[in-house]
Amino acid sequence: MAGTILEAKGLSKSFDGMLAVDDVSFTIQRQEIFGLLGPNGAGKTTTIRMLATVLDADGGDVEIGGHSARRSSGQVRALIGLCPQELALYEELSALDNLVFFGRMAGLGSQEARVRAEENLQLVGLQDRAKGAVAKFSGGMKRRVNLAIALMGRPALLFLDEPTVGIDPQSRNHIFETILRLRDEGMSVLYTTHYMEEANRLCDRIAIIDNGRIIAIGTPVELKTELGDPAQVTLEEVFLHLTGRSLRD
Ligand SMILES: Nc1ncnc2c1ncn2[C@@H]1O[C@H](COP(=O)(O)OP(=O)(O)O)[C@@H](O)[C@H]1O
Ligand SMILES: [Mg+2]
Repeated sequence: MAGTILEAKGLSKSFDGMLAVDDVSFTIQRQEIFGLLGPNGAGKTTTIRMLATVLDADGGDVEIGGHSARRSSGQVRALIGLCPQELALYEELSALDNLVFFGRMAGLGSQEARVRAEENLQLVGLQDRAKGAVAKFSGGMKRRVNLAIALMGRPALLFLDEPTVGIDPQSRNHIFETILRLRDEGMSVLYTTHYMEEANRLCDRIAIIDNGRIIAIGTPVELKTELGDPAQVTLEEVFLHLTGRSLRD
């Protein structure tokens, strides 16, 4: 299943006259984990929201599976799953009921939603907590429920917006393992983060974004080779070299 799943073409978005995303273009190949790496405020979430048809672009377009987000948003939505930066779940419901609810919203029948909800809880390692109210979960467990929700429609392309911010190492590893397994099964992933070591470890290719603009795209090794021996250079140093600033600031 080679080929391009997503092509972003000159996406732009302003808020109150300030350019948050500035002429962003890139492609994602099928079965690729593509990283959007940049500091807070760089424009990662705004980009993902336009790609996921949540927010209209001021300029440019995106094609997903050959469908234009502008002209065929319904067809685009059928192919994607969005795991937003802000948790979107019902705290008072159990994990299982959250998944069934969102599965029904995605158009599944009740039996299908139930089966898939159980599969997805297994996938993110929460099968033992299926009946527990989400309100009692740790931050990392809520993130895993958030991810399981995004997978209810079995998307061809999954958008993950900073899924590991402020979570425990166990949840983080579960999320990484889930992403890698899904990729091996054929899914494509767009992953945003401001953690360079995550992007380095997980992503096949990375776009570095700063002030709304993509300033470099390549495999982690390609990006580091620009500066020297890729075994010695870090993505942090690449970012510093490109911007004069630290990614951590
Ligand atoms: N709804 C909004 N209204 C006004 N400004 C916004 C809105 N969403 C994002 N911004 C601004 O756009 C810029 C990019 O934000 P965002 O895409 O959230 O960055 P990131 O996800 O990389 O941290 C920031 O300066 C942010 O303050
Ligand atoms: Mg963000």
